Amino acid sequence: MTEDRTEELWAAEAPEPLPAAEGLFAVSEGAAHLNHGSYGAPPLPVLRLREQLRAQEELDPDGFFADLPARVAGARTAIAADLGVDPAGLALVSNVTEAVSIALDSLPLAPGDRVLVTDHGYGVVNRAAARRAAEAGAELRVVELPLDAPDEAAVREAVLAAVDGRTSVAVLDQITSPTARLVAGPGLLAELRRRGVTTVVDGAHAPGMLAAPVDPDADFWFGNLHKWAFAPRPCGVLAVHPEWRARVRPLTVSWEDHRGFPASVEWRGTGDYTPWLAAPAGLALLRGLGAAAVSGHNAALARYGQRVLAERAGLRPLPATPGVWMRTVRLPAGWAEAEEGAREVMGEVWRRLGTRVAVRPWEGGGVLRISAQLYNRAGEYERLADGLAGLLKA
Ligand SMILES: Cc1ncc(COP(=O)(O)O)c(C=O)c1O
Repeated sequence: MTEDRTEELWAAEAPEPLPAAEGLFAVSEGAAHLNHGSYGAPPLPVLRLREQLRAQEELDPDGFFADLPARVAGARTAIAADLGVDPAGLALVSNVTEAVSIALDSLPLAPGDRVLVTDHGYGVVNRAAARRAAEAGAELRVVELPLDAPDEAAVREAVLAAVDGRTSVAVLDQITSPTARLVAGPGLLAELRRRGVTTVVDGAHAPGMLAAPVDPDADFWFGNLHKWAFAPRPCGVLAVHPEWRARVRPLTVSWEDHRGFPASVEWRGTGDYTPWLAAPAGLALLRGLGAAAVSGHNAALARYGQRVLAERAGLRPLPATPGVWMRTVRLPAGWAEAEEGAREVMGEVWRRLGTRVAVRPWEGGGVLRISAQLYNRAGEYERLADGLAGLLKA
């Protein structure tokens, strides 16, 4: 069913800041960080814990590494409990960039198969799918999702309309990077499973933001904890459906290879494992603040930000998924239509307005994305909107 969400946008008010989050983050107050969605920003107590772990490592490297497999397993169990998944089906990874290659390398693909991605998919994820398809002699099909799709049902229909008997794999976002839309939402993965399509789900933004981030119908699902789940960078997770676990191909052969998934994926020789060890503390901090309170604040602030960008800068708001902590507006035609132009706009917004935003190129006018996290304030979006109005006139 199509619902009209426009009314809701024009009525958006700025939420009150959460008192418990005061002074929790390290991001500089001299600038507006409205791009939490790209790299996240871990809270100070989590950063301190990570530093303590690094100090422990340096005091006795041999002892630290000897104990690591057990400590990593402990972190995995705690993270799995928070995500609501079976720890035997979850591996810790550095990030989504790594996870997508592991997932795609673990899948059988034959010449003539079709791999489906969308044009809202993250660039690196789509490139990984393109390379894997080319190596297997399979065909890559890029589904175009309308920027103006009014709701998730319309997005879902666009994906399903592109599935045919040759489609063997679908690589889909949970929340898209350029447009902050929910694609692999409730029901879509179950329907794809019913049609015999293997699903690879990019949940980069889901942990911390969505109440139930892992859909049990996903064959492979991965996400980042360093974006919205308060973990230090880099910290990702890969959840694998039981039927695939024995077939997972780790990125490298390691001392834990013989143990199979998930240890075989996690162990990468000498490296920095402290983000994983600190991640459960980030999740505990988030839960302590109250998932509903954080979500209510961030979703409302993102919506308010979108409203002021539309009202004060005259930028067209793109349809949004309620509850997502990022929103988008469309830049006028001629602005950021290609990669270089998008980079220029981001650079100008930073140099002239002291604000970090994400801009992705789009034919007919780029897409500017704002994020909202507990350290952001309404005034930052208002100043951005006023500044953009001037910048776009120049
Ligand atoms: C949807 C999506 N997928 C994948 C990534 C890549 O994440 P990473 O660089 O941590 O691998 C991002 C990062 O912004 C993203 O937004």
